[in-house]
Amino acid sequence: MQDILDEINAELSSRSERGKVATYIPELACIDPDQFAMAVVLADGRTFSAGCADKLFSIQSISKVFTLTIALGKLGDGLWSRVGREPSGDPFNSIVQLEHESGKPRNPFINAGAIAIADAIMMGHQPKETLAEILEFVRFLANDRSIGIDENVARSELLTGHRNASLAHFMASFGRLSHPVEQVLGVYFHHCSISMSCQQLAHAGLFLVADGVNPSSGVKVVSAQRARRINSLMLMCGHYDGSGEFAFRVGLPGKSGVGGGILAIAPGKASIAVWSPGLDTVGNSKLGAEALEMLVKRTGWSIFGN
Ligand code: DON
Repeated sequence: MQDILDEINAELSSRSERGKVATYIPELACIDPDQFAMAVVLADGRTFSAGCADKLFSIQSISKVFTLTIALGKLGDGLWSRVGREPSGDPFNSIVQLEHESGKPRNPFINAGAIAIADAIMMGHQPKETLAEILEFVRFLANDRSIGIDENVARSELLTGHRNASLAHFMASFGRLSHPVEQVLGVYFHHCSISMSCQQLAHAGLFLVADGVNPSSGVKVVSAQRARRINSLMLMCGHYDGSGEFAFRVGLPGKSGVGGGILAIAPGKASIAVWSPGLDTVGNSKLGAEALEMLVKRTGWSIFGN
């Protein structure tokens, strides 16, 4: 495994075409695109990495995997009356489907869906308490108490998040939010601004590898059925309107973020985190997807076989 990661790192570090960093969040616009990191945690807990795998980056939409897991824990199947579970085929920040579908977001991973999830998790709690709960859960999953929120990124999102504010107000106009829009957005922007390294992220994803149980600690995080369903949502919706392309090329449940990270799950095999800040045209890490494509080719880990 170490040889494979070193090979991928060596091949990708010489690439000049690395995609473009997200600029609509000003704080992310100044990230050096010439960075690359990858970490693989096998089901037995052995960890391998290449590149700057301890460097913190903004996990952005990858956090939506964790908030979905919390929301399912609180609402169970009741969650599906608030958010759908179909791929959107539209950009992550699109508003058009919302109008056609009475303000009910297509799935938990597009921005509107994640805003609805943040609202669902808040039930009976102040925004600060909700954020503390999300952060505690991520720290627990990664077994790392140092994980925190980058306040500069959160502020940057808040100041420029007109599109997300539009989505939230639009949903509220259909009576779909139970809390004030400003509070829901505050929770959403802050969980998107969690900083993690590839090492931490790959550890946090481990519960999705082995039927909901963290194989290294033996702790049951979710039921096997729930882990399977979260993986299927990641496969179908985790890369927005690039989900089909990602399934075609990589064939693993995966969740991307505009910070350039991707968390991918090879069920029964490994949790994989990759980071390269340059994005493709739909907002997914360009070299990140390529690295995963190289990894599945060499390991045969695609869920669709070799
Ligand atoms: O709300 C946003 O636009 C960002 N906080 C998250 C978007 C994102 O990561 C989409 N990823 N590809």
